[in-house]
Amino acid sequence: MKDLVWGDILSVGVDEIDEDHRKLVNIFNLLNHAVMDEESPEYLAAILEELINCTAWHFSHEERLMLKYGYEEREAHKTAHHELIKAARELQQEILQADKLLADKDIGFLERWLTEHILTDDQRLGSFLSQEM
Ligand SMILES: [Fe+2]
Ligand SMILES: [Fe+2]
Repeated sequence: MKDLVWGDILSVGVDEIDEDHRKLVNIFNLLNHAVMDEESPEYLAAILEELINCTAWHFSHEERLMLKYGYEEREAHKTAHHELIKAARELQQEILQADKLLADKDIGFLERWLTEHILTDDQRLGSFLSQEM
């Protein structure tokens, strides 16, 4: 798979959120490279754990900003975060239980998992916060 390249399309217009997203994109690329380099299952699992934990931390960051600035879509956005973490944990469990390696389709899933939320829900949040902060 090709690297995810950071660009204006992913920027939500709020520096502190963009910084987090950049970090997540970097970890995703690290994982992608590790899969291509056929790193050990333990190493792949460690990066996936890092990606999920950093994402969960980032979600709390956005949720604090939503609360602080009274974002109307806060509950729906929080639900979306919850679902995303759940989906990633399910993939993680599936890999651990089946003792299988991450496949290209898993990387494809994680790419959509990461970018689709940024391009939709986070863009709306970014437009709101850019006016309020
Ligand atoms: Fe979000
Ligand atoms: Fe985000």
